[in-house]
Amino acid sequence: MDIVRMSQPISQPQGQGQRLAGKVCIVTGAAMGLGKADAIVMAREGATVILTDVDAAQGEATAAEIGERALFVHHDVRDEQAWIDLVARIMAQFGRLDVLVNNAGVLKRAHIEEATLEDWRFVQSINVEGTFLGIKHCIPAMRASGGGSIINVSSTAAQQGFPNGAAYTASKGAVLALTRSVAIHCLNQGDRIRCNAILPHVAESPMVHASLEQSFAGIPAEQRPKVAMGSPFAVANAVLFLASDESSDLNGTTLNLDRGTACIVGQMPES
Ligand SMILES: NC(=O)c1ccc[n+]([C@@H]2O[C@H](COP(=O)([O-])OP(=O)(O)OC[C@H]3O[C@@H](n4cnc5c(N)ncnc54)[C@H](O)[C@@H]3O)[C@@H](O)[C@H]2O)c1
Repeated sequence: MDIVRMSQPISQPQGQGQRLAGKVCIVTGAAMGLGKADAIVMAREGATVILTDVDAAQGEATAAEIGERALFVHHDVRDEQAWIDLVARIMAQFGRLDVLVNNAGVLKRAHIEEATLEDWRFVQSINVEGTFLGIKHCIPAMRASGGGSIINVSSTAAQQGFPNGAAYTASKGAVLALTRSVAIHCLNQGDRIRCNAILPHVAESPMVHASLEQSFAGIPAEQRPKVAMGSPFAVANAVLFLASDESSDLNGTTLNLDRGTACIVGQMPES
């Protein structure tokens, strides 16, 4: 795959900071890809990070790579009892919960006429219901901790349209709408819990590589178009900002990480 890496080297994590010192954070789907980058950056900024994923082998390896500030818990975001158990375990072990990153997600490439009801439900069950369950069960623990930050990982697909991902696009739109509902709910409750969303746009990860392979199947390598990819650490730095108290006035908003591509008039790259 011919890749043009768009993000600047400044997005690579450097050194140790204290921007999340003392905070206890959950990152779902953290075994690889964007969630892994989130966990690395958050731990380097002083957080205790609970990485969850359905891929236990990769999740354990990622947590071991990060070191003592990381704990892996095998967890399927679709499983409500698993959420209840996860939050109870974190409160018992660490005594607080400050940040939830609803990152776990799946993409099924299929346009509206190809998509099956089974695929549609599979995508919604992880991307939307998993996010719903996480928020629902983490809010009480965050309230007991004096506040918190919920970060939902949506996608530019939710705003720009992505014809070959009908279920995915709809799921990411639902995540945006849920973000606003939760933000206002928490504001009304006086909870000091914020809920924001990020919109990544083609950032390097196993999901993106698999999707592009499918998209370019049958096209010889030399004829494939160049693909502009962002760094997962550029996404993680946005997550870090929303997780930290530096973003205390942001609630119910979205950070668009599209590197300006939404401003392009004319043909958009289809990826
Ligand atoms: N990479 C991008 O360019 C991009 C763009 C827009 C949005 N996103 C979103 O960012 C998030 C991360 O994407 P990525 O590119 O790193 O994907 P990825 O496939 O590389 O990683 C996703 C992780 O989620 C885990 N996962 C899948 N189902 C799960 C479940 N039921 N419970 C718990 N974990 C589960 C996978 O095992 C994997 O570790 C997703 O929500 C995705 O939709 C990514």
